Amino acid sequence: MGTRDGIIHEIWDYSDSESDGVEDFPSAMIALLDKHRPSRMPFFRRLASLPLRVVSEPDFLGEIHLVYQAAMHATRAAVYYLPHLDSPALRKRKLQIFIDDDGLAGGDTHHYQLTRAFRNIGANIRLTDEEFGSPEELCRHLDPETAHFVRLAQRLYSRSLGPWCAVEVMSVDWMRALAEAFSAHFPQFIHEPYFEDCFSHHVEERHADEALAVSKMVLQQRPELLAETMRDARMMAEALDGVWNNLDRVVEEARRRAGGFERRGLMLIVNRMMMGPKLA
Ligand SMILES: [Fe+2]
Repeated sequence: MGTRDGIIHEIWDYSDSESDGVEDFPSAMIALLDKHRPSRMPFFRRLASLPLRVVSEPDFLGEIHLVYQAAMHATRAAVYYLPHLDSPALRKRKLQIFIDDDGLAGGDTHHYQLTRAFRNIGANIRLTDEEFGSPEELCRHLDPETAHFVRLAQRLYSRSLGPWCAVEVMSVDWMRALAEAFSAHFPQFIHEPYFEDCFSHHVEERHADEALAVSKMVLQQRPELLAETMRDARMMAEALDGVWNNLDRVVEEARRRAGGFERRGLMLIVNRMMMGPKLA
C-alpha cells in the first residue's frame, strides 16, 4: 500500500504537468486503476488451485462470502451518498445505477443474488442479508483490512466521485476473476444470475463508462475537484487491494488447515500400523 506522502506527491505532479487535466480525466483514471487491476492479485489464482475438498468446506465459503459481500455492500450503500449529482438530469443517471443494483425484477438485488450464488455452492452464510447494515456494526464482524475498505467507502464516496469511478471501472475485472476462480471447482457458479446478468448485459462496463462520463462533466464545471477526485480513487483502489490480500490469507489458512489435518491423519495411520503387531 502506498504511503500518504507518496499519494500527495504524485497528485501534485499530475496537477502540475497536465494543463488540460480534465479533458484527460477518463484516460488518467483508467491508467491509475490499471495498476490496481484486481485479477493480478494472487487470491484469484490460489483460489482456483485449491483442492476441491478445501474449497468445498462450508465455513471457508462462508468466510469468503462475508468478506466479499461486505466490500460490495459498502459500495452499494455508499453510492446513495454520491455528491455533485443533484440536477434532475444527473439524478436520473444516478437512479439508473441504483436500479441496476437494488431494483432488479421481482424485488431482487445484487446483494440477494450474490448470497444465493454462495448458498448454491454450499456456503455456511455467517451474516444473513439484512444483517448487512451500518458500516460500524458490520466492521465488528470483519478483519482490519476489509473493515478499512468499508469505512473508507462510506467516507470517500460522499466527498468525491473518484472512489465511485475506481470501483465501477475495476468491477468487471474482479467479477470475472472471481467467477472463473470458483468455476474451476463449481462450473455452475459463473452462470449464477449475479454474474451472468452482469456479463451478458455488460452492466459493469456501462457503469464504468457512466461513472467516467458523469465525473468528467462535473469536473468540467469544477476543475478544482480534479486532484481530490484522483486522490480518492487511488485511496479506494489501494484499500481494495487490501481486501484481496485478506481473502488470499483466508485461502492460504484453509490450505494450511487442510494440510495439518492430513498430516495428523497420516500420523494416526502410521501409529496404528506400528502399534498393530504389538497388540496382536
Ligand atoms: Fe456497478
